[in-house]
Amino acid sequence: MSKQEADYGTFEATVARSQKLEADLAVNPEKYRVLTGDRPTGRLHIGHLFGSLQNRVRLQQLGVPSFIVIADYQVLTDRDTFENISENVRQLTLDYLAVGLDPINENTAIFPHSHVPELNQLVLPFLTLVTNAELDRNPTVKEEIAASGLKRINAGMYNYPVHQAADILFCKGNVVPVGKDQLPHLELTRTIARRFNDRFGNKEMIFPEPQALLSTSPVILGLDGSQKMSKSRNNAIMLSATEDETAKLIKRAKTDSERNIFFDEASRPEVANLLLLLSFIEETSPEKIGEEIGDGGSGKLKSRLTEGLNEYLRPIRERRTDLESNMDHVTDVLKSGVDSARSVAQDTLDEVRKVMNMEL
Ligand code: TRP
Repeated sequence: MSKQEADYGTFEATVARSQKLEADLAVNPEKYRVLTGDRPTGRLHIGHLFGSLQNRVRLQQLGVPSFIVIADYQVLTDRDTFENISENVRQLTLDYLAVGLDPINENTAIFPHSHVPELNQLVLPFLTLVTNAELDRNPTVKEEIAASGLKRINAGMYNYPVHQAADILFCKGNVVPVGKDQLPHLELTRTIARRFNDRFGNKEMIFPEPQALLSTSPVILGLDGSQKMSKSRNNAIMLSATEDETAKLIKRAKTDSERNIFFDEASRPEVANLLLLLSFIEETSPEKIGEEIGDGGSGKLKSRLTEGLNEYLRPIRERRTDLESNMDHVTDVLKSGVDSARSVAQDTLDEVRKVMNMEL
């Protein structure tokens, strides 16, 4: 590993680069292409909204062209069920549209990668650029294997980070907004881009080395206050929940026995998490909200959060309900996303074939 690679690899270096990137995005949006994505495992919750969706909408508003990949093949790597994939893709797309990602008026494409054959074809040459040992070392994959409970690990599980490199590089994406857990995959993508250029590029840069845009929002815990918010842990408020459901969930949220409310993540994680959610909604610091509630106790904290959150989500939920009665529109959005992605992927694959001496 060269010195430069080693430096790039530290988390601090990634944070610093991400901050620089953030500043330049606002000034030169046209220099960039955002590629980001999710696995279609169902509906999204408020952790997704405050953790990543809002950031995507913001980048869209800055005028950065964005591709949002729905990683439906990746779902096959860690679960047995595939019956719901199509429905999950549609529900995910509804959530995207409801929060303001806008493929009609903005330069944003939403597409499932299974429908872009040229993207998938990049996986084959990419696989020859990494070693088994490198794939074996990926800490995120290791954790997912442990969490999946699967006794036999399919090869797709080890290889999906290479597939993810194809997701990112097919459109020459150079900005990837991610959480910390995705950094090993992005590092592998950078390695693949570099090795591809070195091996086939003949001094030309075919693929950019994409940069991480690290999420600045803190990890949002579930209503149990002890683990990350997630639907499978049953501690989430879904974007599509009703106002009543939201109220009930918040009522049951875990707090502690101390009456006076103040923000302290270490000693009062459950209360701190509810204050944090309020801080996103009210766009002020959780400390200040804590002081305001003070002796009002957790009752006051919960009623303020219920009201605030329902009001905040109201337009999103209304849009979602409207769209739900027009699922043909969702299909159209996905089809046009696939068209845009394919047109870019075809150009990239042509270029790749050419430099690999595989033209007819
Ligand atoms: N691996 C990501 C996840 O598990 C999903 C994903 C697939 C992705 N392809 C991507 C994320 C490309 C960012 C860029 O959540």
